This record gives sequence, structure tokens and C-alpha cells, in this order.
Amino acid sequence: MTTDSHYLPLINGEFTAFTDETFPAAEAATGKQLATITRSGKAEVNAAVAAAKAAFPAWAATPAAERARLLLKVADWLEENTARLVEIDARDIGRTVFELPQDYRQAIGQYRFFAAAILTHDGWNNVVPGGWAIAKREPYGVVGQIIPWNVPAIMVSFKLAPALAAGNTVVLKPDENASLSTMELGRYLAEIFPPGVVNIVPGFGEEAGAALTAHPDVAKLAFTGSSEVGRIIAHAGAARLVPVSLELGGKSPNIVFPDIEDMDAVVDNTAFAATFCNGQSCLAGTRLFVHDEIYPEFMAKLTDAFQRIQVGSPLDPATRLGCLISEKQGERVMQYVETGKNEANLVTGGQRVEVPGHEAGWFVAPTIFETTNNTRIAQEEIFGPVLSVIRWKDFDTMIHEANDVVYGLASGIYTSNLRNAMRTADRLEAGQVWVNQYVNLVDGSPFGGYKDSGLGREVCKETLDMYTQLKSVMLAEQVPPPFYV
Ligand code: NAI
Ligand code: MG
Repeated sequence: MTTDSHYLPLINGEFTAFTDETFPAAEAATGKQLATITRSGKAEVNAAVAAAKAAFPAWAATPAAERARLLLKVADWLEENTARLVEIDARDIGRTVFELPQDYRQAIGQYRFFAAAILTHDGWNNVVPGGWAIAKREPYGVVGQIIPWNVPAIMVSFKLAPALAAGNTVVLKPDENASLSTMELGRYLAEIFPPGVVNIVPGFGEEAGAALTAHPDVAKLAFTGSSEVGRIIAHAGAARLVPVSLELGGKSPNIVFPDIEDMDAVVDNTAFAATFCNGQSCLAGTRLFVHDEIYPEFMAKLTDAFQRIQVGSPLDPATRLGCLISEKQGERVMQYVETGKNEANLVTGGQRVEVPGHEAGWFVAPTIFETTNNTRIAQEEIFGPVLSVIRWKDFDTMIHEANDVVYGLASGIYTSNLRNAMRTADRLEAGQVWVNQYVNLVDGSPFGGYKDSGLGREVCKETLDMYTQLKSVMLAEQVPPPFYV
């Protein structure tokens, strides 16, 4: 794998820093150091924001078609470099080489979607008596963006593509656990964008992240991560009256009706829903509601499916479940597993798995608990391959329980009855409802959360509204006759 031994912040088109402090990018499965990265602090953030501020007027005035052309180049570069970046991510974060190419396909789709969408992102205008009414959409200025570690390529694309397409300049802080592929992308961004348009400040949340959210010249904030930090960002935005978009945690219900036709296929899709991304996804379908009538047969098949999921080295193409991002996350997940053993019925899994040669990695066996909706493991986001199964019989009770969590990001429904699907979809408090296929993400379809899962929508045309503000320009043909004289 070819990476640099050290990565510097990208500020004003250059790789530069004021500090010698660094932090390691470590291979998740082995603990081996892959590279060091500058630990950005206030000085780097201030310089990056100043560069973004200086670059803003020219970038905002750049024709949308030209901004789109550069985003299309980013997509092409990602396509050409996918194999290399997949290996970097697999080592850096422990996700599998089987799964990661899909992250890149999705990221590439985002750059292409927003390159196209910005060309049709019109304001409004009309001829009115005696003149014209024009509503223009204008970018905010410097956008501060903070992302998490679970799907770095996707997160970078969700943030950069719409913000840049709309004519904002950006200061992006990647997650301290997963910066490497973003820093690699940064080398290409520095080649093609005018200096200052995209700046990357790797570092820690309380340091670089806090400096970015507090900076008086940042005109909009966008964040993906835990609901806890989301609240901190929202407070920072409130203090300076700048808009904030948030994509936060989830504890999504996945509902199986008794009328499903192909049980094996549904079992497979629900197992995938709970364990893709090693369970470290805000979208994960972690509360599985299985109908009473089919419960015993479904559970037998599901248990078998979980036991067949191959756990191993992220770099082995046969592996379906790699390791968790870090020891901290591993301990957090295992604590929830212990809680589950006390409050629920452990069906399978429930232990750390040793993978020879990868002793530092936190591999967790795919785990199923039978429980009720009011337990901690059913209510709190675990972010590991841990599924809570809840047996249901009465439709209204099930709907009440499906909605009875603080989150509202995603949801799933399996049924052969279209009316059933639509009536259930109408009642779910969630930004996403997937019928018969979990994580069916399409470029352009709105993505975001109800309740504590966030504010705003990404991936869609409306995202461009989030990154622009409206200005009304009213033109009168002539000055009106005097009122007072
Ligand atoms: P986190 O929310 O602390 O980290 C996400 C990002 O926020 C990182 O870039 C971090 O540096 C930054 N950050 C942290 N504190 C900050 C602050 N005070 N000011 C500005 N930026 C700050 O998430 P963490 O601790 O890595 O994971 C904890 C839990 O959060 C996970 O177990 C999971 O439940 C949830 N989570 C949800 C994600 C999602 O996609 N919705 C992604 C990552 C975590
Ligand atoms: Mg790492």
C-alpha cells in the first residue's frame, strides 16, 4: 500500500502546519502505525478559515458549470483510485475490502449528482406589474464541516459535493480515527481546486473541531456523528446564529410481516441490515420486529445466518465482518453485550473473536438478543454487530414500539402487500423507510433524520437549499410617484 509517512493539513492549496504535534493513523486490525498526521490546533484552523474566506468571492462567482467540472474530476479520480483507497480504508478503519467498494461507488455518485444538480438549482423570478421580482440563491461563505470515522469516503462526499457545488468554500475536519483516505484525496483536491476553496484540518474534536465550530468567520456548520456532539455543535451554531445541519445517531426498526414470500431472502437482508459496516452505521437496522406467526422459523434461520457470517481480516475478500474501529469502540460494544446478557436473552454471539495475526483488532461475533423494546440494548445506539429482536403480534403496539426511541433516522419493512407497506411507512417516525430492501440509497433521494437523528437532508436537491440562502431582488421600472410632496 502506498501512502506518505506523514500527512499535513491542506491550507490555502498547500500542505503546511504551525505545529510539530502529530497523531498516528493505526491499522485497526493489527495496531500497526500506517502514518502520522499533523494534530491541527487553533492556528491551523484559523489559517484554513482565513484561506477559505479569501477564496470565497472568486469561487462564488465561478460559473456553476466550472464548479461542476471540477467535481466531476473528483469523481473520476475516485473511480480510478478506488482499489488503492479501499485498501487504505480497510487497513485504517477495519472495514472489509468486500464492502468498501460500495462506499466509493456511493461517494462517486454524490460528486456527479451535485455537479449535475447545481446546474438546475434555480432561484425564482417573475414579471410583476411595473417590474421584475427575482429570488437569487447565494452561497453562505465559509462552511465548517466535521465528519465521523465509519464511512469516510461517503462522509467526505456528502459534505464537500453540495457545499462546493453551491459556491461555498470549505474547511473540513476528518475524524481522528479515520483520516488517511481523506488526506490522500486532499492531495488531488490541492491539484485541481483554486487555493483556499477546500481546506482539510485533521485533528481532534475538542481541539480542531471546537476551534472550527467557534470560529466567527464560519458562516455555516455541518456535522455527522453522535447525537451528544451534535448538540454541542448546535449550541455553537446558536451562539453565533449560523445555520447547522446535523446527521446523528439511529436505532432503526426493521419490521417483518408474516406475509413475506421468500423467508430466506428476508433473513439475509435483515442480517445484512444489522451487521454491514461491522454494525457501525447510523442506518443499521438494529431493532428487528418479527411477527409472532413466523417467529420460531425466522429466528432459527436468522441464528444460522448470523453464525455463518465470516469474521476475519478486513483484507481477506471472503471476510464479511471485519473489526471495530478502535479499542474504545470495542470496549463500548462489549459493555453493551454484557448489559444485554443481564437484561435480555442471548441467542448467539456475545463474545470477542480472535483472528490470528490480528490480536489488536476488536472483532466481535455477530450477536443476537431476544428482548423487549424497553431495554437499554434496544434503546441505545451500540455501533457494533449486535441485533435486538422483538416479537410482535398487534400492529398498533408494534408501531408504537417502533417509534418509541429518541432516534428517527431509518426503518425497514418486509411485506408482500403494498397497502400494508404504505400504511406502515406513513406511521413510522423516520427519515428513511425501505420496503423489502434495507439501505437502498439512491443519489438524489433525501437522507436525514427525524427527532434526535438530526436536522436537514443530504444527498438530494434540497441539500443545495441548505448550502445557500435566498436573496430577493425587486426591480421597479421607475421610481413611484411621490407620496409626501
Ligand atoms: P463523535 O460524535 O465524538 O465524533 C464525530 C466527530 O465529531 C469527529 O470528527 C470528532 O473529532 C468530532 N468531535 C467530537 N467532539 C467534538 C467537539 N466537542 N466539537 C467539535 N467536534 C467534535 O463520535 P465518537 O465518539 O467517535 O463515537 C461515539 C458514538 O457516536 C458511536 O458509538 C456511535 O453511537 C455514534 N456515532 C454516530 C455516527 C453517525 O454516523 N451518526 C458516526 C460516529 C459515531
Ligand atoms: Mg485507524
